[in-house]
Amino acid sequence: MAVGITVAANKGGVGKTLITLNLTGALRKSFPNARILVVDTDAQGNTTKSFRVKLKNDQNTIYDVFMGTATVEEAIVTTYDNQIDVLPANADNNYLEFDKMEVFRDTILEWFISLIKKFKDNISELMTLEGLKKKMNKNIDPSSNYFNALEGAFDKVEHDYDFIIFDTPPELKQVTSSVLSIADVVLVPYEPDLNGVDGVTHLISRVNTLKDKYNPSLRIGGVLANKVYNTNLHAKMINAMMKYTNRNNYHYFDSEIPRSITFADKLVRNGMPITMSAPENKFSQNFYKLLNEMNQLGLLSKDGNVLEIPNQLYNDKEEE
Ligand SMILES: Nc1ncnc2c1ncn2[C@@H]1O[C@H](COP(=O)(O)OP(=O)(O)OP(=O)(O)O)[C@@H](O)[C@H]1O
Ligand SMILES: [Mg+2]
Repeated sequence: MAVGITVAANKGGVGKTLITLNLTGALRKSFPNARILVVDTDAQGNTTKSFRVKLKNDQNTIYDVFMGTATVEEAIVTTYDNQIDVLPANADNNYLEFDKMEVFRDTILEWFISLIKKFKDNISELMTLEGLKKKMNKNIDPSSNYFNALEGAFDKVEHDYDFIIFDTPPELKQVTSSVLSIADVVLVPYEPDLNGVDGVTHLISRVNTLKDKYNPSLRIGGVLANKVYNTNLHAKMINAMMKYTNRNNYHYFDSEIPRSITFADKLVRNGMPITMSAPENKFSQNFYKLLNEMNQLGLLSKDGNVLEIPNQLYNDKEEE
């Protein structure tokens, strides 16, 4: 049974995609027999492009899954000699909320016509907003599953995978909320700058609201610093974040990802994250360390168990 892991932040550019890609690569190398699915939910399609998924004109994407016009199985494509499956995203997802609104509008108008036909002799029953709301059922109420629009969508494939990793767009609206409403674990990346701490507290508060409403078993895996640079500002911000996580009982990852231009340049080579193409690389090792830390916290399994890592590629001597 797959564990669903997502990386979420409402701020752009904090490294959601970079972490998704490299964590996926590290999982691939560490668990050679695991079945892995990466789900891109960002209209920018950066994860899709990084894995060199070429979208044909009729290729179903996460947009179709959200719209209900394709199942998850129908949208999955396989890369790397069947090593990693990808559920792609493209710019269609930019129009998702508008397109859904159009579908809902037509559904509601059809419903309204049928209602008027049915109640034509007693139309006063329909003349108040409350009266109408009572007659509405869940299927045609656009607000009923707005923030958990993916509910049930992955149920069929959950047994086909060990890890399902979701990359999300920089927002907390329908798309990211819907992922948080079905995931098991969320990682919260931040850049230790002036606004980084605010962004994390806002995100965690939103996660907790969604958890209470839709997904009680969602675990906040921890807060992860990215683009860390050796400056006073970063040290100060990291300190502030550690205090916040401590006070609120959230995990602060000991693993952190340094800022590195060389690393950013090499991030994806030949459609492979650097953790896959060069696991021993100093920068890749940060992700192998993260993977180990996640495992120790039970975040790599649905039921919170610590797994045995068949191919241990983290070399902790690097640290010294
Ligand atoms: N540790 C790092 N060192 C250097 N560059 C980095 C690092 N992490 C991310 N970057 C660079 O910063 C940019 C943003 O990273 P990324 O796309 O992963 O962020 P994101 O949160 O997914 O952004 P978006 O919100 O737009 O989806 C990219 O150009 C990436 O290569
Ligand atoms: Mg991204």
